Amino acid sequence: MAYTMLGLSIVLPTFNERDNIGVLFNEIRSKVKVDSYEILVVDDNSPDGTWVEALEYIDESDVVVRRINMKGLSSAIIDGMLFSLGRYVVVMDADLQHPPEVINTMFEKLREDDYDVVIGSRYVPGGGVEGWSRTRLVISKGATLIAKLLLPYARKVSDPMSGFFMVKKDLIVMNRGRLNPLGFKILLEILERCGPSKVVEVPYTFRSRLYGKSKLKTSTILEFVIHVLKLSRWRPFKFVIVGLSGVIVNLGTLWLISTLYPLFTNTLFVIGSAIAIEISILWNFILHEIWTFSDRRVGSFVKRLAMFHLAVSPGVVAQYLVAVLTRYGLYLNPLIAQLIGIAVGFPVNYVISELGVWKTYSRT
Ligand code: GDD
Ligand code: MN
Repeated sequence: MAYTMLGLSIVLPTFNERDNIGVLFNEIRSKVKVDSYEILVVDDNSPDGTWVEALEYIDESDVVVRRINMKGLSSAIIDGMLFSLGRYVVVMDADLQHPPEVINTMFEKLREDDYDVVIGSRYVPGGGVEGWSRTRLVISKGATLIAKLLLPYARKVSDPMSGFFMVKKDLIVMNRGRLNPLGFKILLEILERCGPSKVVEVPYTFRSRLYGKSKLKTSTILEFVIHVLKLSRWRPFKFVIVGLSGVIVNLGTLWLISTLYPLFTNTLFVIGSAIAIEISILWNFILHEIWTFSDRRVGSFVKRLAMFHLAVSPGVVAQYLVAVLTRYGLYLNPLIAQLIGIAVGFPVNYVISELGVWKTYSRT
């Protein structure tokens, strides 16, 4: 019964937040108006004894988890969620960067329309950041851009990297086998792996830290890049591999033409080059369909084939022009001319394929 009665669990991951934890508890108690909630502190055996300090502030419904020999923000959050009893869980930093009163707005939203996830967003109107250096802002925006470029669920929201969000606990419990907590960006993991159908954002201002300093390190940024690549199923690498195989097909075709019908690589290079390009486009398309974007085949095959042609057309036009110009202008060997063209047209293709042709998952 306790389970159904308890509305909300507040998960606070902590590492060396001794000076902040008490202040945060007091702020939560005075500002959070949700009827019944529990607070779970998940501490990774902080050297400063945050977990001991937290024990001073908890009441009977709250929990302090002291994890030993475990570390990591995302895994601490998942553990906290799995220990929790509430129907909904909210995650926040323990350093007062996330204003507790926003929890009220988030909770109302969730109840109002049965959302799976409510994100506290810095980047919707009304939200913001306080006291950030330009560098930090650029890093944050850059990281958000990378996530959005590679991940469809991240594209649907303004702040997929937020550390402040509320979720329906069932979503986590049902998908816990899929979650692989790495690094800092657990929201990204949840969005991509759990595929929530209803997500909404509420604005908040990310404040300056009260005491102590951020646990974000250079290695966290590297972890983030690996995390995003993993979530994207290493798609950019697959794309490059397919592209390289396409180069071989393209040049192989041209070589075949040059031995069988040399006219088409000399005077009529315009035709030979075009044929080789088209064959490599078809080759790339098939490989992207069955490998690179195999999880994104939504709708009609013919439409995707046409869109892919459209998508590669800027790159292809560049490639074709450069090849033809270097062939006729510089009298380069036809294979070399073709290769230079390919190098020019290549990078454009990834972006357009990702954003235009195979833009969402086929699974729901
Ligand atoms: N248990 C545990 N284990 N907690 C940790 C660990 C860890 O290894 N590392 C950090 N924490 C706790 C901190 O004590 C803090 O309460 C919270 O996780 C966030 O860590 P910060 O060090 O305050 O991170 P930040 O403020 O730089 O980054 C925050 O903002 C980012 C958005 O810019 C986090 O909320 C990120 O998740 C968020 O993406
Ligand atoms: Mn913080």
